[in-house]
Amino acid sequence: MSVFRYAAVVLAVGSLAGVIYAVASGAGQSSVTAQRFVNLQEGAKPHEGFRRAHAKGFCVAGEFLSNGKLAPYSTAQVFQPGKTGFVGRMSIAGTNPTAPDLRSPVRSLALNLGQGDADGWRTAMNTPPVMAVGTPEAFYEQLSALAPDPATGQRNPQRIQSFFASHPETQAFLAWQKSYVPTQSLATERYHSINAFYLLGPKGQRQAVRWAAVPAPDTPAQPLTALNPDDPDALQAEFLARVKQAPAVFDLIFTLADPTDNENDPTVPWPESRPTVVAGQLLIRAAQPETKGQCKDINFDPLVLPTGMAATEDPILRARSAAYAESYRRRARESL
Ligand code: HEM
Repeated sequence: MSVFRYAAVVLAVGSLAGVIYAVASGAGQSSVTAQRFVNLQEGAKPHEGFRRAHAKGFCVAGEFLSNGKLAPYSTAQVFQPGKTGFVGRMSIAGTNPTAPDLRSPVRSLALNLGQGDADGWRTAMNTPPVMAVGTPEAFYEQLSALAPDPATGQRNPQRIQSFFASHPETQAFLAWQKSYVPTQSLATERYHSINAFYLLGPKGQRQAVRWAAVPAPDTPAQPLTALNPDDPDALQAEFLARVKQAPAVFDLIFTLADPTDNENDPTVPWPESRPTVVAGQLLIRAAQPETKGQCKDINFDPLVLPTGMAATEDPILRARSAAYAESYRRRARESL
């Protein structure tokens, strides 16, 4: 082989190896992975067997009564007039399964509708209407800034401040946080999808939406008995007692995006003037501690959608799906 041909072969093999290395190492892709997310979320001492986020929660069950008003927008069975059963979970944000209910800044409702059906729908909703940031990388940065310093066990206020200062997209979230007053019951909170999805209609049309579970107007605002601030399970106890008397009822309200709204950016609220459709009511008829209910082993993956719904390109959705799976794998390996 001549020197020139030898050099050409070396060059070709070299560049092929470069391409293989680049693909294998994910060049051009995000360096944030599901494993890194969950490592960060679980911290140095994981609570084995528990979710690595929203670790504290309890199970709920009930049914969704669809009034059919969303049927022109989506062919999903769940939105045709009728009843769909669900198993769900109410939780607070955080990694500690024994954290005090009243200290958590975020409360949540997750639902698995039509469990066992091929066309099941899973949704995990939080009290804020928007996310602080709109990419997995920025969310990783946010979690890192909020994580306690391993040396002191304390959060670093300067680090937190500089994170928010360098992320102007956090404005709407911060404004919500400032105005938010936690309610006296999990039955009187509003829970938001935050991320947008598409409804796929019978005529092949596609409509971007967000949704929220909003307490039915006649829901008693006061807790059954005054919440005991020293009881770490105060909200759970109130909710369990409440549903023994009557179902907790939420309207499931969809907001329809305008073509000028960016459905891929969960940091920006859509204008109040956008049309809304009340698709029906969620009736929570039963609530049980996690050890006794059926929600513990459900992965509330937001990409489990029925025919008639689809994911947007919002990159947070894919990051969530991957991180929930990783958290699920870890906790399932530790206990069943
Ligand atoms: C990139 C952004 C996010 C990441 C990495 C993330 C990560 C996680 C992880 C690892 C879990 C535990 C999953 C399990 O073990 O089953 C979890 C649970 C949860 N997340 Fe997220 N999350 C993100 C964004 C969101 C958003 C935007 C919402 C609200 C719309 C949300 C709502 C919830 C809820 C309600 C749960 C508890 C579900 C349950 O009860 O099992 N998350 N999250």
